[in-house]
Amino acid sequence: MSVHISQHPLIRHKLGLLRRRDTPPWLFRQLIRELTLLLLYEATADLTLWTERIETPLEVAEVSTLAQRVGLAPILRAGLGMVEAALELFPTADVRHLGIYRDHATLLPVEYYSRLQGIPRADVYLILDPMLATGQSAVAAVDLLTRWGVQHIKFVGLIGAPEGIRRLRESHPAVEIYLAAEDRQLNAAGYILPGLGDAGDRQFRT
Ligand code: URA
Repeated sequence: MSVHISQHPLIRHKLGLLRRRDTPPWLFRQLIRELTLLLLYEATADLTLWTERIETPLEVAEVSTLAQRVGLAPILRAGLGMVEAALELFPTADVRHLGIYRDHATLLPVEYYSRLQGIPRADVYLILDPMLATGQSAVAAVDLLTRWGVQHIKFVGLIGAPEGIRRLRESHPAVEIYLAAEDRQLNAAGYILPGLGDAGDRQFRT
């Protein structure tokens, strides 16, 4: 299964609050944070572990430690709210912001910022973008990370349109997709219906 749509009641409840037109930006950002924490719990359930022996105050114990290094690749600017939350769970993560915007006329992705120098410092990179709409930005982000040398990539978002999910799956079948919901369709302007509007504008009161 490469597409995971969460069925968690808490995620569905919070997504309902996020979608409301009258949810103010401060609450919108808080809900993005909470939803990201919950989604990452599901998206990282297959991370591998190794065991080590440590000393508790009372005796020696075998404990588990993450064997894989997690990297974060938020797509600017809507992914910013998600990366803040992700860093709470992975405080030492390598973060690579990807500046990709959608040209409003052509709906095609335009890359304007990335700093992918050196070699990747993580074993798995999580692309963070709340909205998987046309899928073009997501595909461009995977292309960028792949060209840089990343081998294991997951996409974590909040809402996906069938068109975007299909495009990402067809272009990059190995990328697992984690979402809180799959919505009905895109409108002519490339917005997800019913969706929640512009995730960047709603976070930053633009
Ligand atoms: N980006 C958004 O912020 N919202 C959409 O509905 C689609 C793309």
